[in-house]
Amino acid sequence: MKNFIYSLFFICSSTILSAQHTYPKDSLQQLLHSTLVESKSYIEKGKVADYIPELSKADKNKLGIALIDKQGKLYTLGDVHTKFTIQSISKIIALMIAVQERGEAYIFSRMGYYGTDQAFNSMEALNTRQKPLNPMMNAGAIATTASIIGNGDEAYQKILKMIRFITNNDSIKLNEAVYLSEKETGNRNRSMFYLEKNFGLFDAKGEESLNNYFKQCSIEVDAVDLAKIGYFFAHNCTRFDGDKTYYNPEMAELINSIMLTAGMYNYSGEYSRKVGIPSKSGVGGGILGSVPGKYGIGTFNPALDTQGNSAAGLYIFEKLSKKLALSIFR
Ligand code: DON
Repeated sequence: MKNFIYSLFFICSSTILSAQHTYPKDSLQQLLHSTLVESKSYIEKGKVADYIPELSKADKNKLGIALIDKQGKLYTLGDVHTKFTIQSISKIIALMIAVQERGEAYIFSRMGYYGTDQAFNSMEALNTRQKPLNPMMNAGAIATTASIIGNGDEAYQKILKMIRFITNNDSIKLNEAVYLSEKETGNRNRSMFYLEKNFGLFDAKGEESLNNYFKQCSIEVDAVDLAKIGYFFAHNCTRFDGDKTYYNPEMAELINSIMLTAGMYNYSGEYSRKVGIPSKSGVGGGILGSVPGKYGIGTFNPALDTQGNSAAGLYIFEKLSKKLALSIFR
């Protein structure tokens, strides 16, 4: 009975969405439908993040998939317009801006290209190497944002502006409550910021620079926005509507390679084997995927596994990768 009600719900919702976007009921839409239904059982395996108190308010059952194909056509299913904070997915945008401004050699003389077997908030490399392992873990991301040129909240404003540009969505804004919650409870991040400042990894003066990191994590997006950002890096920094203002194959190659080695933290190696798509997760529940030359994918469900990745999102990526042969190693 329960299964019957679920099926009815998804048939109805997919019909509504199909009508809204006038999609033909093609096989891709069918695949998204069955994948979304199957992924529901993974929600119970995860837990909504509560180490930032505001995040714990997320509705565990919101689940959505957005996919943009090579031609820029959008396919959606489920809760694709539910807003959540971008969190660590913002790190790829900060890295893009920092590298644009400073050059890759400058940024990577201050951190490594390493993968990791450590959690996203690990400080171990700061103790052993006096440098972060990579720009996707918090330590590296804090140093990356602190390297963006500008005073006060300029670095944050640049990140917000770039996200709005890539998504062509000017309504994207800060979730103030999440930002304040991050700032209030972010003492581990604060300690990394001061250690890095002590090592001379950046010249940013005060905590305003760290606040830019908290702010960039607190930008609100939805699954469609993530698919658009995924598309951007899958297509040499061309926007989903064909805009080539930031066209840069070299940059896309860098971002995709860093996502592949470190975007899913200590799950990145296994993810590379099982999914093989350059991807980035965030503790808000989003996962972004960039399938080079093909798709941009965004998923949302806030129930996270122990490594901080959305459990249902991981299932969706694994299924889509297998069914559509999306691994870059195929
Ligand atoms: O620094 C933090 O704790 C968060 N603002 C971002 C971490 C995050 O999204 C890790 N991802 N899974």
